[in-house]
Amino acid sequence: MSETYFVTGGAGFVGANFVRYLLKNTAAKVVVVDKLVRSGSWENLAACESDSRFSFFEVDTADGRGLRAILRTAKPTKVVHLAGETSVDRSIDEARIFMKTNVGGAFEVAQQCRQILAGYDDDRLSRFSLVHVSSLRAAGPVGENGEPLGPTSPAAASALAAESIVLSYHRTYGLPYLVVRASNLMGPWQFPEKLLPLVVARALQGASIPLYGDGTPRRDWMAVDDFCSGLLAASKRGRYGAVYEMGRGETTTNHELVARILAALEVERPAAKNPAMQSAGYSEYAQLVTPVDDRPAHDRAYRPVSPAARDDLGWRPQKSLEDSIAKTVRWVLQNEAWATEIVERAGWQGERLGLGLAPMDSEKRVAAGSPASNRPLIP
Ligand SMILES: NC(=O)c1ccc[n+]([C@@H]2O[C@H](COP(=O)([O-])OP(=O)(O)OC[C@H]3O[C@@H](n4cnc5c(N)ncnc54)[C@H](O)[C@@H]3O)[C@@H](O)[C@H]2O)c1
Repeated sequence: MSETYFVTGGAGFVGANFVRYLLKNTAAKVVVVDKLVRSGSWENLAACESDSRFSFFEVDTADGRGLRAILRTAKPTKVVHLAGETSVDRSIDEARIFMKTNVGGAFEVAQQCRQILAGYDDDRLSRFSLVHVSSLRAAGPVGENGEPLGPTSPAAASALAAESIVLSYHRTYGLPYLVVRASNLMGPWQFPEKLLPLVVARALQGASIPLYGDGTPRRDWMAVDDFCSGLLAASKRGRYGAVYEMGRGETTTNHELVARILAALEVERPAAKNPAMQSAGYSEYAQLVTPVDDRPAHDRAYRPVSPAARDDLGWRPQKSLEDSIAKTVRWVLQNEAWATEIVERAGWQGERLGLGLAPMDSEKRVAAGSPASNRPLIP
């Protein structure tokens, strides 16, 4: 019997890829809810509109009533929760929205699913599962003895809090929940402020490419397609209460990753033939790389991904790092107009984020500027 997937955050980077993956590789119906915040864009899913198995609702996952109304109608057998605020840099500048969206959203998804399950028949109930998507950063960087040190940024703290909520719903109410933590992902439809598309965009303009600190933090980079196959496997065969980690199992320094992205760009669009590079006086993209102040509490490295996803799910990432970089660079080059539009709409001007220089988040700035609250925040 075919499934109905309920995908939150389906208009974002991972979501747009996962929704396509489901439509292509399964017979499932796919119901997407998304608030269309900055990185989430209807264009990312427009090509799915012609598929009669696909539907979309603009909803905030922290709005329990809105969520419940759609869940009641859709009656999903699988829920994959991807909606969230994800940028560590933005979390350092604007922590409040991370708590509201990531913690509040995880709570409402768990709570509303619990409520609609009361109306499910035995067959639907037996096929129902919830996959909460999180990040390796929730566990924090690795300590001297290999132990995870816990979250270091508001983004990571909100991710760990969200994991705790959904696992508590599994233990207390028996909800068939599991958590999947992803490593760093690359692929189409990634918001252009993220590392790979940012490096390509700045190189094309002959502009400096910021490298945080000494460039030695290490990350495990994986193709988003490989993660999508892992999510599908987790939704079908995942053990409830498990926390699966998915990555390629190899790490690369930021410095090396940037060098490899630029090498791939060199093949596709040589610097020597790029007028912007010529007018900036550079002959090689590597000359653009410029060290800048490090991110506060920048995680050096994470513990290697645990083997549980491979052992329990029989899942393996298939794509090499080299191919993933080359393919993603080509996609970015073919979709420059998409990137320009989504960035303009989001109002991001390319400014450095995440130095924690803003004295308070924007909601408080508005409140502090109003006559009613014209007093020091800390007396
Ligand atoms: N991209 C990565 O490399 C990566 C790595 C590890 C984990 N993850 C996790 O995967 C998930 C998705 O990440 P992504 O890279 O696709 O992020 P993204 O920013 O591209 O997409 C997030 C989506 O959530 C939507 N959204 C935000 N707030 C919402 C709200 N209140 N209600 C409904 N929708 C809302 C946005 O509109 C957007 O479509 C996150 O949980 C993230 O932590 C991503």
